[in-house]
Amino acid sequence: MSGNGRRYALSGMSARAMSVFARPLLGPYADHGDLVAVVDPDRDRVAEFDDRLAWYAPGDFDRMVADARPDTLLVAGPDHTHAEAIMAGVRHGLRVICEKPMVTTAADAARVLAQAAPGQVRVAHNLRYAPRHRLIKRLLDEGAIGRVLGVELVWNVETLHGASYFRRWNRRAELSGGLQVHKSCHHFDLVGWWLGDVPRQVFASGSRAYFGADSPHNPGAALPVSAQRDRCPYGRRWQEEGAELPELRGHQYDGPERYIYDAEIDIEDNYAALVRYRGGAHLSYSIQFSAPWEGYRLGINGTHGRIETSLEYGRQSGPEGLPVVLYPMFGERRDIEVDGEDGGHLGADGPLVRELFTEDGAGLADAAEAAWAVALGEGVRRSSLTGAAVDVEALLTTACDAK
Ligand SMILES: NC(=O)c1ccc[n+]([C@@H]2O[C@H](COP(=O)([O-])OP(=O)(O)OC[C@H]3O[C@@H](n4cnc5c(N)ncnc54)[C@H](O)[C@@H]3O)[C@@H](O)[C@H]2O)c1
Repeated sequence: MSGNGRRYALSGMSARAMSVFARPLLGPYADHGDLVAVVDPDRDRVAEFDDRLAWYAPGDFDRMVADARPDTLLVAGPDHTHAEAIMAGVRHGLRVICEKPMVTTAADAARVLAQAAPGQVRVAHNLRYAPRHRLIKRLLDEGAIGRVLGVELVWNVETLHGASYFRRWNRRAELSGGLQVHKSCHHFDLVGWWLGDVPRQVFASGSRAYFGADSPHNPGAALPVSAQRDRCPYGRRWQEEGAELPELRGHQYDGPERYIYDAEIDIEDNYAALVRYRGGAHLSYSIQFSAPWEGYRLGINGTHGRIETSLEYGRQSGPEGLPVVLYPMFGERRDIEVDGEDGGHLGADGPLVRELFTEDGAGLADAAEAAWAVALGEGVRRSSLTGAAVDVEALLTTACDAK
C-alpha cells in the first residue's frame, strides 16, 4: 500500500480525468494513493491509456467495488453520467469527488443532496483555485470594498474553443444541461463562492446564433462534413493554424463524425442573465461561445469600493490582462499583480490536484454549493427559453433545506 493508502476508482477515462486524476495518481502523487479500477464503456480507450489498469463496464459497478475495494470514487465521464455514478458511489458508502458540473439538472442535484451524507460528495470546481480568484476572495473576505452590491462578469470563449463544444456530446442539452450548466457552472460557482451566497432568482435571454443548421457561417447544410469544414471560417481557421482536433479522434463513445452545423445541436451559444442573490447582491453575466478573444472582464461593486480585473488567454500565449485593481471608494487605486497563472486553467489545476491528493480535497466545493451552480444554470436556460424569470430556490427545494 502506498502513501496515505487511499484507493481510488475512476468513472470515465475522459481527457479531463487523464490530466487531473489518472496521470497525477500514476505519477507525481503515486505515494498518496492507488488507482485501483476504471469504469468506462470504452475498454480500448482505458487500455490505450494504460493497459495495466483494471477495467469495468458501467453496468459492473457493484462487481468493481467488490473486487477493487475503493474508498474514493473519482467521477469524470460525460456530464449526464455523473448522477448515476455519484449515486452508485453513495450507495456503496464511498467518498465521491466529481468533475463539474456535479449533475445536469436541478432535480438530480436535489437527489444527490437528499441521499449523500454531509461531506461525502465534493466537486472539483477548479476556477476557485486560480491565484487571481483566490486573491479576489481574500480581498472580499477582508472587506476591502465593504458589502458587495453587485458583480459584472462578461466571459468570452474564442472561436476554436467555442466551436469544440458543438462537435461533441456537450451540444445536446440532455447530455450537458446546455452550456448554461456545462460551462457557466464554473462561473456561477465562482461568484457564489466569492459572495458566500446562493442565487434566488434569475432572468435571462439567449439564442443559438453561431452554430447549428441555421448558422450564418454554414456553407451548406446538404454538404458533407469535409466540404463544410473546408469552406467555413471555423474549419479554415483550424486548418490554417494546424490546430489539433482531439475530439474527432473517433472514440467509440463519440460515434460518427460530427460537425458544428449539425441539426441535432439543441443548445444556445450566447446568453445574458441577471441574477438576484439571497443576501441582496446581484450578478449581471453574459457569455458568448464564438468571440475573437478568450477571457473575461470583471467588476465587483461594494459599498466602499470596486474591484476590477480582466484577462485574455490565447491558445498560443500565456494569460495577459490587468492586474487585480482595487479602487477604495475615497482612496488611492491599488494594482495587485498576480503570479502563478501559467498552469492549466489560469493556474488552477496544479493547486487543485495537490489539495485533492494531499489534503483529501478539503477545500473543494461541497455538494450543496455545486447544486446551486447547476440549479442556476438550469434557471438561466429555462428563463431564456420561456422569457419568464425563474425562482432558482424553487428548482432546488431540497438544496435549500440542506444549506
Ligand atoms: N474542470 C474543468 O476545467 C473541465 C474541463 C474539461 C472537462 N471537464 C469535465 O470533465 C468531464 C469529462 O469531460 P471530457 O470532455 O474530458 O470527456 P471526454 O469526452 O474526453 O471523455 C468521456 C469519457 O467518458 C466515458 N464514458 C461514457 N459514458 C460513460 C459512463 N456511463 N460511465 C463512465 N464513463 C463513461 C467515455 O467512454 C470517455 O472515455 C465532464 O464532466 C466535463 O464537464 C471539466
